[in-house]
Amino acid sequence: MVNFLVLAATAFLASVSVRALSKVSRSGKYLFTEDGNRFFVKGIAYQTQGRNLSFLASGSHPYHIDNLADNAACTRDLPFLQKLGINTIRAYSVNSSLNHDACMSMLSGAGIYVILDLTLPLNGSVDTNLPAWSTNTLDQYLRTIGAFKKYDNILAYNIGNEVMSPTATQAAPFIMAAARDIRAYLNSISSSALVGYAAIDGPAQFVDSTADFLACDRSANSATSSIDIFGLNNYEWCGDAANTTFSGLNSRFADYDVAAYFSEFGSENCNPTPRLWTEISTMFSAPMTGVWSGGLAFSYFGAISEGHEFGMAVVSADNSSITTNADFDNLAAKYNGVTFVNSPTKASATVPAPTACPTTDAALWPVSDTLPPTPDDSACDCLASALSCVFQPPTPDYMELVGNLIGVACGLVINVGGTCDDISSNGQTGVYGRLAMCDPTIKLSYVFSQYYELNHRVTVACSFLGNATINSAAPSGGAAAAATSCIASPSAVFTPRAPPILLPVAPPTASASSSTNPTGGGSTGGAMALAGGRGAWAGLGAVLGCVLASTVWTLLSAAG
Ligand SMILES: *[C@@H]1O[C@H](CO)[C@@H](O)[C@H](O)[C@H]1NC(C)=O
Ligand SMILES: *[C@@H]1O[C@H](CO)[C@@H](O)[C@H](O)[C@H]1NC(C)=O
Ligand SMILES: *[C@@H]1O[C@H](CO)[C@@H](O)[C@H](O)[C@H]1NC(C)=O
Ligand SMILES: *[C@@H]1O[C@H](CO)[C@@H](O)[C@H](O)[C@H]1NC(C)=O
Ligand SMILES: *[C@@H]1O[C@H](CO)[C@@H](O)[C@H](O)[C@H]1NC(C)=O
Ligand SMILES: *[C@@H]1O[C@H](CO)[C@@H](O)[C@H](O)[C@H]1NC(C)=O
Repeated sequence: MVNFLVLAATAFLASVSVRALSKVSRSGKYLFTEDGNRFFVKGIAYQTQGRNLSFLASGSHPYHIDNLADNAACTRDLPFLQKLGINTIRAYSVNSSLNHDACMSMLSGAGIYVILDLTLPLNGSVDTNLPAWSTNTLDQYLRTIGAFKKYDNILAYNIGNEVMSPTATQAAPFIMAAARDIRAYLNSISSSALVGYAAIDGPAQFVDSTADFLACDRSANSATSSIDIFGLNNYEWCGDAANTTFSGLNSRFADYDVAAYFSEFGSENCNPTPRLWTEISTMFSAPMTGVWSGGLAFSYFGAISEGHEFGMAVVSADNSSITTNADFDNLAAKYNGVTFVNSPTKASATVPAPTACPTTDAALWPVSDTLPPTPDDSACDCLASALSCVFQPPTPDYMELVGNLIGVACGLVINVGGTCDDISSNGQTGVYGRLAMCDPTIKLSYVFSQYYELNHRVTVACSFLGNATINSAAPSGGAAAAATSCIASPSAVFTPRAPPILLPVAPPTASASSSTNPTGGGSTGGAMALAGGRGAWAGLGAVLGCVLASTVWTLLSAAG
């Protein structure tokens, strides 16, 4: 224990005197350091697993661990990361309110870059099934960038992990819009960090269309740019596989025009167990090095998924020490044997022709090439303060409730002749309602307000079992008119600005006439139905409303 602490302290002190890490940039399909040499990701996933669903359902906190804010753990783990011979870690969930100086500086001092996912479990990502690119998600991403932009060892920011799946691709335009807006923001702060996405593996047609969609040339829209680095979570290589295992993938990605790498690899439960990591020799030699830029072994910490465990470092009960397994030793041996193939160099590399966008196809790629607009905080905030009936969160964990209430309220609004088109978006048709970019709580308040107004503003129509309150300060013109005046350019694409410091989302100052106890007085059918029974509440919630991210950081479903 004493030796371990001395070692760690030495490593930390050493970091202070080391000069900044070389910037890594992309030119065409390759990554280069400032001296013009090839850069390959030789790394490992470094993230304590997200909580399980029963933990989340209990409302317990914190629901994710920010490993880069845990100085003692970073100090404990650094010697092991160094022993692996890595140059990159991938972290999946950080908390932008916390301080990451110590971990980031230790890693930088050890020559280790960070690929950082901007997403969080639950509602902190573009959702697979009900995708939106909205102010809440944009602001979360920007806050995370704000917390990490000062570090010299941020290699890339991932704007999503496994959001699109072979059976659900409709999130693609939203992910692309996220990449566009994050790229514009990084440019505006002179950050050279790469913009990445980590895809789930699947049928070739799905993977290739996803990769092409995120990289393809949309120069007709000058504000649009592609991702820089496409990650594939690939578990194809099992055990001591043939080194032709990746040949199919290699030819499919040979002409890809942005950098590609394996954002996770390391199949388990193969023969033999433990993992041999023989894929590393193949990944870091020709012909693969002509196509790919390395990869991230999965995973330092244990990550239980569908009968797999994946971990290589077991933390002691008191968090003070680490025990490594044979997977770890094998990985260290393979990684330490890698010599980067410095070909082509930046000077000799040719930039490939732009990747063509995949064709929209009802069966194969049911995805529109029309992207949603940049989420506009000021337009949405303007609207929020002008709505007549606003959502009042009964608890700090209102996210699931909002999803259900949107479904319920939309059902009621449609019943009384309204629509939910303004808050809806559709990545298959490329039709985006003008409020689709706003925070879910604002969308909900908008639907509440429409219902209340369609019911002639009877008090009981603004209750929703006590989840809504009347805003008497709202202008009398109504919700739709407020949307028209606040959201003047509903399809605008622009460079977002850093959001204000994090404050709880609060409803606008509401009147005292909060109608938490609807006891009658309402005379319209809709209001009576709402006050009278729970029937309506069961209806559309599941269909329309659930904003719970489907990826509760279960990590992977394609593990081999
Ligand atoms: C979920 O996590 C909690 C807390 O970590 C644990 O006690 C429980 O056994 C887990 N449940 C399942 C079904 O894995
Ligand atoms: C982030 O950290 C802050 C400050 O400790 C804490 O209040 C907040 O709950 C954390 N957020 C999450 C999602 O854990
Ligand atoms: C397979 O391994 C051999 C020997 O290491 C190497 O020369 C060859 O390029 C590899 N083939 C592929 C497809 O990686
Ligand atoms: C160990 O660290 C984890 C975070 O990785 C934390 O949740 C847990 O409470 C810690 N346990 C102890 C005994 O400190
Ligand atoms: C997720 O929901 C919680 C409330 O449950 C909220 O505080 C948080 O801001 C939401 N995050 C995003 C990105 O919408
Ligand atoms: C809000 O709506 C939910 C139903 O979705 C209900 O259970 C709850 O009682 C309502 N009111 C409050 C104050 O939570």
